[in-house]
Amino acid sequence: MSFLSHPVSVTFSMIRLHSTQEVHHQVPLHEAIFLVPTMGALHVGHEALIIKAKERAKERTEQFGGQSKVVVSIFVNPIQFDRAADLEDYPQPLEEDLKKCKALGVDYVFTPDSKEFYASDRSIKVSENALSALLCGATRPGHFDGVCTVISKLLNVFRPVGAIFGEKDYQQLAIIRRLARDLNFRTEVIGLPTVREPSGLALSSRNLRLNEETREQAPAIRTAMLAAYEKFSSGTTSADRLLAIIRMYLEKNAPLSTIDYLECVCAESLQAIREVDKPAVIAIASFFGDVRLIDNIQLHPSSI
Ligand code: PAJ
Repeated sequence: MSFLSHPVSVTFSMIRLHSTQEVHHQVPLHEAIFLVPTMGALHVGHEALIIKAKERAKERTEQFGGQSKVVVSIFVNPIQFDRAADLEDYPQPLEEDLKKCKALGVDYVFTPDSKEFYASDRSIKVSENALSALLCGATRPGHFDGVCTVISKLLNVFRPVGAIFGEKDYQQLAIIRRLARDLNFRTEVIGLPTVREPSGLALSSRNLRLNEETREQAPAIRTAMLAAYEKFSSGTTSADRLLAIIRMYLEKNAPLSTIDYLECVCAESLQAIREVDKPAVIAIASFFGDVRLIDNIQLHPSSI
């Protein structure tokens, strides 16, 4: 008779944490955490961040031994919404999200209750005062303070070794890097390239709100950006000329789009530049009906 009298089935268990207190009780301090902050409604873009976190956790254990774990936070952060209607309409398919996390081998999912997470008499927030005023921040007052505050709280709750964010929200990533630097968080901020549909359209939960016509035109954003990138690669460094290519392309191929902003900025300070003589980003926000889509493309002068 074999030593094992019945087959062993290794079942993977994911722990759901509902509050900061549960984190303190259930997540041992010695575990090295890789955190993926999200607001849920998970799509393949979020999944890429989770897969990256899993990879980094595995690498860390191989390198240093010990336990490395992946945490996904799912929290529709009320203080980063500047319009109450947007907060109310935000999709929250929690059961599906939990299933996706489990299938990806996430160790902990953190789903705090807003009332527990934010004390009713809270009086401290984290403000960023340079990068937040530009691009998306110009029309969304308080938005990035809400992001900085929630990310600071999450970094304090989990003290992660690494936290993973998408380059899709380039400005958000730049601000979070600044946050980690200026407040000395001991967390490596890891950025990941934008995940796209085969058409080139950046994945976003907002894409579901496009109608048939705008859905067809929205990928033009990426095609326009690539056309500018190609010009840049063949030697054009004037920001005005690169932006004109994008504007003209969209006018012709996406007449239903209305540009909210289109700028060529320094990759770090996000200040507008006239010549691409240092790492830069072209960032765009464009309305298709009432759906506002954002995208960006990075330009590295050394790649000319
Ligand atoms: P959310 O919109 O849920 O996005 C969570 C993370 O997924 C962000 O880092 C975002 O940049 C990334 N992401 C979204 N679409 C992506 C795509 N197509 N490819 C790659 N990454 C993508 O961003 C937020 O939540 C919140 O502001 C948050 C940081 C969680 C703070 O509340």
